[in-house]
Amino acid sequence: MAGLAVNVDHVATLREARKSSYPDPVAAAMLAEMAGAGGIVVHLREDRRHIQDRDLRILRNIVQTKLILEMACTNEMVGIALDVQPDLVTLVPETQEEVTTEGGLELMSRDNTIAEIVGTLQDSGIPVSIFIDPSPEQIKVAHQINVTMVEIHTGIFCDAEGAAKRERAFSDIVDAAKFARKLNLGVNAGHGLCYNTIKTFKGLHEIDEFSIGHSIVSRAVMVGMEKAVKEMLALIKDL
Ligand code: PXP
Repeated sequence: MAGLAVNVDHVATLREARKSSYPDPVAAAMLAEMAGAGGIVVHLREDRRHIQDRDLRILRNIVQTKLILEMACTNEMVGIALDVQPDLVTLVPETQEEVTTEGGLELMSRDNTIAEIVGTLQDSGIPVSIFIDPSPEQIKVAHQINVTMVEIHTGIFCDAEGAAKRERAFSDIVDAAKFARKLNLGVNAGHGLCYNTIKTFKGLHEIDEFSIGHSIVSRAVMVGMEKAVKEMLALIKDL
């Protein structure tokens, strides 16, 4: 069975909307773990629009499963990761203008920066995942730069309009997951997944873990965090 890592950024978004002290993403993480989540994900953005440094440090102390830090490829974030020592770093592209991460990292058009960051983090004992679009070229480069895993961007599939586009987008995910597995890379998947789109992954056993935030936190507003996580876990168990 694939695992589920719950992203609690959106709890922090609600808190930051009022600059209040609640709701606390730390409390949400504890409830998610109690409901069976196998990991907690936070994206410490450069503009600190949701998760704060304080959240990351408390989470490092209290997360019982796995703390996954999503971060941009910057010196500041590398320094924080080396200090906090999350269980996994997922490197993502980041721009100030975006509402959320808009696509995978473009590995082909970059200099050596990403490879160097992967080396620095992994040499310090932190495994690194790279968030990439479902493309064999990106996976090949991810493999060459020695990452532990890739996280396949599922947002293109989730946002695709019309059956044909959806099918094509999903078949890219299937091909990417199988190719990455063949190269012995760990395979995570995430972005935009909800209680409906997750069902499409039935039979795709190459995926180690799904990283899901927005749909779970949205449901949690209505039914509570534990129930929202348990419902997603039940769907994943059925895949
Ligand atoms: N994976 C990555 C790399 C992300 O940037 C995000 C969004 O923060 C997610 C997964 C979770 O996406 P969503 O909130 O749409 O479930």
